[in-house]
Amino acid sequence: MKSVHYLKTSTKKYCLEYCSTPVPKIKSNEILVRIRCSSLNINDYERYKPQKTILARLINLFQGRESHPLGGEFSGIVESVGVDVTNFKKGDFIMGMSEGVFPYGCWAEYAVCKSDRVVKKPSYLSFYEAGVVSLSGVAAISGLLVCDIKQNDSLLIIGASGGVGLLTLQLAKALGCRITAICSSRNIPLAYKYGADRVFDYNSIEGLSSVGVFDKIIGINGNYKLKDIANCLKVGGVYTVVGNVKQLFSTIPWLLLSKVIRKDFRISSVALSRCERELSELIRVMSDSYIIPYIDKIYTLENIEEALDYILKNHAQGKVAISVN
Ligand SMILES: NC(=O)c1ccc[n+]([C@@H]2O[C@H](COP(=O)([O-])OP(=O)(O)OC[C@H]3O[C@@H](n4cnc5c(N)ncnc54)[C@H](OP(=O)(O)O)[C@@H]3O)[C@@H](O)[C@H]2O)c1
Repeated sequence: MKSVHYLKTSTKKYCLEYCSTPVPKIKSNEILVRIRCSSLNINDYERYKPQKTILARLINLFQGRESHPLGGEFSGIVESVGVDVTNFKKGDFIMGMSEGVFPYGCWAEYAVCKSDRVVKKPSYLSFYEAGVVSLSGVAAISGLLVCDIKQNDSLLIIGASGGVGLLTLQLAKALGCRITAICSSRNIPLAYKYGADRVFDYNSIEGLSSVGVFDKIIGINGNYKLKDIANCLKVGGVYTVVGNVKQLFSTIPWLLLSKVIRKDFRISSVALSRCERELSELIRVMSDSYIIPYIDKIYTLENIEEALDYILKNHAQGKVAISVN
């Protein structure tokens, strides 16, 4: 089969090789899926790029699988199932994540997944649309679940126009929130179109205090001080960190000190290690409101380098899809 691997020894710009490899074998509790579409999330690549972060090096140390295909989410057709898999059969249209959060493996014609990391593809979604939402959508719905979102909540989404942010916006709208979004000026129309009630350009606002006061804040990007974020929360409000590792680390002292200093707001974060419930909830909310993800561009496995060029130079609007077959 054709697949895209990270190879340390590659002389190519991104050390990614489009190559032929054997179709992977499944264990008794696994599913072999023929991939129709995957996506490019920058965190697919973060861990493998030539200049790695310390976090990426640490993860590789424990879970290094550099010769495996990359790619975290997919849509496709079940090719075969292990003897212990009872809820899926050959020919089912499915979507989900490949085996484990790491290692990935969907930038390939075939991938292996576990049945608790996939769902049947809703018929209203095309393979492209279904192929780009499982991982980023689970991050998005997890943020909303963790901050215990309620109808009519006022919600601020920081970083609302990318893969995770736009889905968070769409899901929050479907759940009846009043949404304020922060993104760059070029994406303001997109954020309004997908459900924001008010949108601010992160380059034009003078600190967060000018944006308002909210029941819930979801942080997907941006470098705001926690003190300023706390000042934008109503009493009893919740700040949930979904992306942004730096922000996540900066919450740790606050998590410890908040018990002593101030008790009228809560900080939480999203962990994507277990996601069966979140994936089902994502599909339920999406299907109830016929939510369709926004696809900025579609590339193929062969031109994955072009896709990386695009996503690294321009922030993608919504999702970048990788068509397979
Ligand atoms: N994609 C996934 O599956 C996934 C899963 C779990 C966690 N995450 C994490 O979630 C985060 C976002 O991922 P993503 O795929 O959505 O990334 P992305 O597509 O690059 O989106 C980033 C968002 O942040 C905005 N932004 C950039 N600079 C900002 C600033 N200074 N202040 C406020 N907003 C700013 C961007 O706005 P403009 O584009 O308008 O500039 C865009 O809306 C990353 O930390 C990632 O590791 C991603």
